[in-house]
Amino acid sequence: MKKLIDYAKDAAKMAYAPYSQFAVGAALESTSGRIFTGCNVENASYGLTNCAERTAIFKAVSEGERTFRRMAIWVDSDTLFTPCGACRQVISEFSDDLEIIIYSRNEELHTTIAELLPHSFSLHKDHS
Ligand code: THU
Repeated sequence: MKKLIDYAKDAAKMAYAPYSQFAVGAALESTSGRIFTGCNVENASYGLTNCAERTAIFKAVSEGERTFRRMAIWVDSDTLFTPCGACRQVISEFSDDLEIIIYSRNEELHTTIAELLPHSFSLHKDHS
């Protein structure tokens, strides 16, 4: 069976990153078992770039999913990186305890959104 990390690796191949050359892939599993992938999509107006994690969340929510089990993130790099602050906030909107597994070529980090963004800003947490 294809693993979540394999979906993230495939998604990274779709990255549109002509400015940074930093391709990121994310794969998000919903509680109903569906998998949504995302890649980073850059823009000549740099601040409009959308990260892989947010692409995956937005795709899932726009297709009717609001509750999630796990997210895998892949960068083809020697060093491990962690999601940016904007992505942490967007993930936390939909999950207090999402499991996040981050992979690089040589390392992996198992963490949660609660660990990455403690005391997150929240107005509404029932996702309805
Ligand atoms: N990027 C992501 O896709 N996810 C992150 O969590 C951090 C950064 C992307 C944005 C940009 O296209 C490139 O990586 C370099 O910052």
